[in-house]
Amino acid sequence: AMESGVARRPITDWEAYEVELKERIGIDQKLMSRITTQAKKDPKTVVFAEADNYKILKAAQIVQEQRIAKPILLGNPERIKAIIEENNMDLHGAQIIDPLVEEAKKEEFAQILYKKRQRKGVTLFDARRLMRDRNYFGSMMLHTGEADALISGLTRDYSKTISPALQVIGVEEGINKVAGMYIVLGQKEPYFFADTTVNVNPTADELVDIIGLTARTVRFFDTEPRVAMLSFSNFGSVRGDIPDKGAEAVRKAKQRYPDLLIDGEMQANTALNKNMLREHYPFSELAEKGANTLVFPTLTAGNIAYKLLQEIGGVEVIGPVLMGMRKPVHILQLGSSIRDIVNMVAIAVVDAQNYNNQHI
Ligand code: ACO
Repeated sequence: AMESGVARRPITDWEAYEVELKERIGIDQKLMSRITTQAKKDPKTVVFAEADNYKILKAAQIVQEQRIAKPILLGNPERIKAIIEENNMDLHGAQIIDPLVEEAKKEEFAQILYKKRQRKGVTLFDARRLMRDRNYFGSMMLHTGEADALISGLTRDYSKTISPALQVIGVEEGINKVAGMYIVLGQKEPYFFADTTVNVNPTADELVDIIGLTARTVRFFDTEPRVAMLSFSNFGSVRGDIPDKGAEAVRKAKQRYPDLLIDGEMQANTALNKNMLREHYPFSELAEKGANTLVFPTLTAGNIAYKLLQEIGGVEVIGPVLMGMRKPVHILQLGSSIRDIVNMVAIAVVDAQNYNNQHI
């Protein structure tokens, strides 16, 4: 319903639509308006790898009009222009690049990729071929500094879209594992969920990495994290792989991040319900305020949890925010709405603005 609502509306009604959304289901837009306002202070160039797509172009038009970002559109110019014309869009000033005809650029990028990955099975022939793929070409634009941020993933499976970014852009120095976070906006404070998109079955040590990365990103959104390590058990009430690795991750995270408020392992209702904590687990560090940041023991749990919330409704979920990459790249959920894309572009721009300090 949200989607068709956006598509039917003329673009000038965008802000009115946000107000309506807040009034209709009471979703608190403070966090996202803060991000959007910040993005507008210094709009960055954002590469859209899948620009031959109606939703991407509509989102690109919105972020250009609202001065949130300067879009760079990758794809076949004729197809892109046809979609723009058919839908009466205005994307004047947005740069369109077709990797298929950019021979010199492709060769330059192929050489860079070949140097980077020649000992990981990539021949020069492979590298040249890969540069025809817009996810590789777009990632390389980010890698070489020709663009500030990259948005992709609307039309392809997440794992296939993140691979080129991991291979070309890679992980930030000092970070072991990248991970994905969703922001869940409801009527109360924002909640943060991780890992919702990348690591299938993290070990206790990988969970410690994910906890650190997530806490940093929650702070990026001007919120002090209160982290719960989730499980189907409460503080050792059941033993087994999942409870044990959660408890171990918490022990290690407390040592590694002495300033971080974290506890667990615990069930989701224990984490979010202060009364439950106070009554049954008053020793917990989260007993005073409850958690606002939920770290899941497996990707299965995290991915299913946010998708259930998104589909059942009453909340708005924003993401996936890809954490720990060397440059701002965010891979959309397959089939994201225009609104989702606009939100992710705003986040990517603020991420790019903070590239030299505390970024995502
Ligand atoms: N953090 C940092 N680096 C990583 C990570 C990670 N989490 N995962 C892989 N890498 C590294 C690899 O080790 C590899 O290193 P190399 O330079 O030495 O080659 C490099 O990144 C490139 O990786 P690939 O070979 O392209 O991919 P890999 O086979 O390692 O798989 C992937 C990584 C694609 C993320 C895989 O773990 C996966 O499929 N995860 C699940 C994704 C998914 O399906 N999510 C659910 C849906 S998402 C949604 O609903 C929005």
